[in-house]
Order: sequence, then structure tokens, then C-alpha cells
Amino acid sequence: MWNDLKRKAAAVADRTILDVFDDTRADDFAVQTQHMRFDYSKTNIDAETRDMLLALAEAAGVAARRDAMFAGAKINETEGRAVLHTALRNLDGDPVVVDGTDVMPGVLETLARMDAYAAEVRGSDFTDVVNIGIGGSDLGPAMAVQALSPYHDGPRCHFVSNVDGAHIADTLRGLDARTTLVIVASKTFTTIETMTNARTARAWMQDHGGDPTAQFAALSTNLEKTSDFGIPAARVFGFEDWVGGRYSMWGPIGLSLMLAVGPDGFRAFLRGGQDMDTHFRVADGTENMPMMLALVGLWHRQVLGHATRAVLPYDQRLGQLPAYFQQLEMESNGKSVTMDGGTVPVESGPVVWGAPGTNGQHAFYQLIHQGTSVIPCEFMVACEGHEPELRHHHDLLVANCLAQSEALMRGRSLEEARAKISDRFDGAELERQAAHRVFAGNRPSTTLIYPKLDPFTLGQIVALYEHRVFVEGVILGINSYDQWGVELGKELATTLQPIVEGTAPADEKDGSTQALVRYLHAHR
Ligand code: F6P
Repeated sequence: MWNDLKRKAAAVADRTILDVFDDTRADDFAVQTQHMRFDYSKTNIDAETRDMLLALAEAAGVAARRDAMFAGAKINETEGRAVLHTALRNLDGDPVVVDGTDVMPGVLETLARMDAYAAEVRGSDFTDVVNIGIGGSDLGPAMAVQALSPYHDGPRCHFVSNVDGAHIADTLRGLDARTTLVIVASKTFTTIETMTNARTARAWMQDHGGDPTAQFAALSTNLEKTSDFGIPAARVFGFEDWVGGRYSMWGPIGLSLMLAVGPDGFRAFLRGGQDMDTHFRVADGTENMPMMLALVGLWHRQVLGHATRAVLPYDQRLGQLPAYFQQLEMESNGKSVTMDGGTVPVESGPVVWGAPGTNGQHAFYQLIHQGTSVIPCEFMVACEGHEPELRHHHDLLVANCLAQSEALMRGRSLEEARAKISDRFDGAELERQAAHRVFAGNRPSTTLIYPKLDPFTLGQIVALYEHRVFVEGVILGINSYDQWGVELGKELATTLQPIVEGTAPADEKDGSTQALVRYLHAHR
């Protein structure tokens, strides 16, 4: 089927996106729900291509796999675990059974404990919260706290992730240890960066008049380790191993978000995710937003071979969304081995990157428009902002977003470029100057447009992308829920630590590493 798609791509290679536009394409190649609209009409996908992509999904058994995931089957086969982040936002509590036990009473009980604790902290003298975590225990809540800043009425939230001492030093400087709550967020409670930062924060609190026994909370699956660290059970919010790190912001790992926006705001975020779950489960093929987002992604990466995709939110508060999606997509689908141990027959997931518009326009869009590689762009924009008094800013923002996708699709021909500057140049100089002003165009993009970036909508966006990753992973035949690729570096760092410290010889390391260590020791 991949080969059929590649043949189809070759057959339409000379056709432009503009060629496929007709009066109905904008609606035919968009998915609109009650809450948002996903437009993929500015791609080279036609009805036949879409049918072929949908057939690919059908052949891969996406629907059955989806149902298995929601039902608590152990679809994370390499780790023998269920994949149930969706249970964390299953606010109605419909039973979800894992190993014969309904997990929902436990999920709802933990959520109620979080509610109560958040109310207590928000009503106390705590002025600041420091969330110490990394990867999935950092990127989600950090992204969401920034995204929902108009709803932030709790203590200030700070996020420390990097083991680079600069991160914690810069964060703690200026904080009052007596009014700061430290949350240690780690699914495993063994991650070296997080535990190193947690110990540093504990020492800082002790040295500056705070009380770590009362001012530390933990979010983890490892209750033995949280207890060893000295955090009382009352301030430990546990979850199960069926929540993957990069999918964990819906549960205890989202505590900092709940402290920021309050239990009601957090529940609105969960409801947004839950609503997207329902949509994903019931909407038919072309009406299914995660499905179509995934198929567009596969068309661009695996069929057309575009190596990267840009996530471009025209929403300043989604500034950390590209980094969040980087982990979500690249840690999930950056794999070359299929579930049964074979080799993935096509390219793995793309490099995901991006930054908010309009800033990116003044930095890297040059390459997107005129570079030699095609970079499919995923634009996002809200119909309205949170600053009604600055409506003219928002109009300008939206105009720029729409202008970019139009420019990418249309481009500018040599003739148009000549016409633009013919009053200033002529002859050979006109030709030379005009060549630089040509835009090839025919560059694909999608646009997700939503009413306003409120908690519900953020929940929708995050769940939409989670399910997109799921669909892409199933079609690639990989396990999107493990991350063996991060292990080797961790292991080697452990062997290198004493070498760096100077307590072990570097002899067994390669020549480059030995030379770098020599330089390091000579310069400190
Ligand atoms: O090293 C990768 C990883 O395991 C991520 O998958 C995870 O989100 C992150 O580390 C943090 O892990 P933990 O929450 O266990 O500290």
C-alpha cells in the first residue's frame, strides 16, 4: 500500500495545490467539530489519495487498536502495559478495566485529593510553586501553565528541569524558601536530573528557613521512593504505570497546572481532552480530526519524504507547544523497529520543530518559503484573544497566519516578481533581481482554528495530537509508548560521571571522548 501511495505521489508530482482547488475543496478537505476546524485543503491530497490513506488506516486496524487502547488492553507490548492516559480525563467514571480491576475509582479519588490539596495550597501563604521534573514531567505542565496564563489565579509557578545547576540556581534566586512549595514530579522517581535538583532544592529550603517536611509534594508511580525521600504520603499523588510520561499531564503530573488555574480550570482542560476522546472514538473516517491529521502527516513524511514538520502556533501563549509536541511525537514515533521485531518499511516519524508566529516569520520562515526542502507547516490560531482592548493586534496576528499559508501555497512566479520591480530595474539586472524574489509556492500547510485558547480548547488540542501520534504509530506498526532510545545515553552518562569527576580512568573510552576529557580536566 505504501508503494501504491508513492506511485500516486509520483503521478501527481507535477500538479500544484492550486490545481486541485475547486469551489468545494475548502469544505471537503477540512474537519469541523463543534469546537474547532482543521483545514488540510492547502495540501496536495485529493479524494483518491485520501481514500488510499484511509484504506491504509483500515488495513493497519487503527479502529480496533483504538478500541483496545480505550478498553485497557496492554497495547504497550514491549513494556507489557496498558495505555490509559485517557482514563485520567474520563470524568464520567465509566469503568476501565485493567487486569480485572476497574481503575476509575482510583483515578477519581486521586483527582479529588488533588482538588482538595490545590484548594488548600491556593488558600495558604504559598506564593510560589517550583515543579522539578523533566521530559513528560515538565514539558506538559510548563506548556499549559503558560498557555492558560489568563486563567492563572494561583501561586506563581516555576519549572526546573535541566540538571545544569544554572536552571535551579536561576529559579530559586529571589524566591522565599518559607513560602515556596516544591513539587517533585517524576514517574519513576529515579531520574538523575530530577533527583539531583530535588536534593538541591531541599538543601536550599533547609538553609533558607523553609521546612522541607511540610513544603515538598511528590507526583510519582514509585511510592517507595517518594517515602524514602521523606515526603509524607498525604502529599504524594500517585499514578499507575499505564500512564506514559509524555502523556501524563492529565493526572498528578498536572498538579502545578491545577495550582495555577484552580480545580475547575483543570477539569475544564480534562473535559476538553475527554471530548476529543469521544470524537476520536465515534467520528467516521473523513470526519475524524485526529485520523485526518495523522493521515496528512503520513502523506507528507512517509509518502512524500519531507523530513521535518513545523508547528507554528499564532498564539504567543503556545510558545512551548512545539517543545511539548517534540517529545510527544518524536519520543513516541521515532522508531525503526516494528511491534513484532521487524524493520519499519518506511521513514519513521518526522523531526518536529517550530515557534510561535509572528516571531518565526522574522527568523526562519525564509527557509520555509525559499529553501530547497519542503517543510509542511501546521498553523494554529484562535479566533479571538484574551485582550479585547487589543483586538487590532489579534486581527494582525490572524492576517499574518492566513497570509503565510496563502503565500506558501501560491508562491510568486518569475513574471510576478519582474512586475513588482520593473519600475526600479531593467534588462539583465531586472532578471537577476527578479530571480531572488521568486517563491516556488506549492508548499503544503494545514491550519487548526479554534474560538479561544481556554482550558477546554487546550485540552482538545493536546488530545488531538496525542491521538494523531497514536494513529501514525499504529499505521507504522510500531509501539508509540516505549522509549528505549533514551536508555543508552543514560547508561553511558553513568559510566562517564566518575571519569568527568576524575575518580576513574578514561582508558576504555574512544579517542575523541578521551581527548575531550583531557581538555576538560586541563581547563577547570
Ligand atoms: O528519559 C526519557 C523519560 O523517561 C521520558 O519518557 C520521561 O517523560 C522523562 O524521562 C522523565 O521521567 P520521570 O518522570 O520518570 O522522571
